[in-house]
Amino acid sequence: MKTRILLIALAAVALLSSCCGQGQECCQQGNEQANGTIETIMARRSIRKYKSTPVSRDTLNVILECGINAPNGQNRQSWEVRVVDNPATMEQIKEIMAQANPDMNPAGVKGCFRDAPVMLFIARDPSYQFSAYDVGLLSENVMLSAWSLGVGSICLGMPIRFIAGNEACAPVLDMLAFSEGYELCLCIGLGYADEAPEAKPRDMGKVKFLD
Ligand SMILES: Cc1cc2nc3c(=O)[nH]c(=O)nc-3n(C[C@H](O)[C@H](O)[C@H](O)COP(=O)(O)O)c2cc1C
Repeated sequence: MKTRILLIALAAVALLSSCCGQGQECCQQGNEQANGTIETIMARRSIRKYKSTPVSRDTLNVILECGINAPNGQNRQSWEVRVVDNPATMEQIKEIMAQANPDMNPAGVKGCFRDAPVMLFIARDPSYQFSAYDVGLLSENVMLSAWSLGVGSICLGMPIRFIAGNEACAPVLDMLAFSEGYELCLCIGLGYADEAPEAKPRDMGKVKFLD
């Protein structure tokens, strides 16, 4: 328990002081805006190439605690997360999915996970109207806290397309063992980045102030 508190404290310090480089230009426009949280948000990118270096469970626990501390409707915590960091288990899941989608190139199906060494499978409680938002907010906390600790991430909708509603993928859902009624909703890959992609453009025109 003490170790976990220490790790969370260290993560908080890292979050406040992190400087991943790519977001600095934005943050330095005004000194009053420069802080670690903004830098982390602006520097995070989706990572699709990973080193094989494993992510320690201590680090993963910090990231996951940040995830479940996301705001969520009525604090129902209408999510469940399964963490797969064992390459053999991940390979088993990929193999079932490849066989369950015979019309697809098996390498393409397996590639939907982007070879991230850690995969989070996140399910939601569909009986709660806002559970998809809860999952989204948890996911963002996961990805930002990961980035602040030097761990890259990728949010993945594609695996859900291959698994959801596909009877032949039932063994995958059995392995994940979510609670009765929960629906697989999103995956997040985590690992140490082996690429440094440029930021994709964003359209500030989508935001308007009302005078
Ligand atoms: C709900 C959702 C699903 C996504 N699914 C995939 C996916 O299946 N494969 C993938 O490579 N990227 C996926 N992405 C990542 C987006 O392509 C990426 O976030 C976007 O292009 C912006 O790039 P950035 O994250 O580097 O800022 C997904 C992102 C979200 C939010």
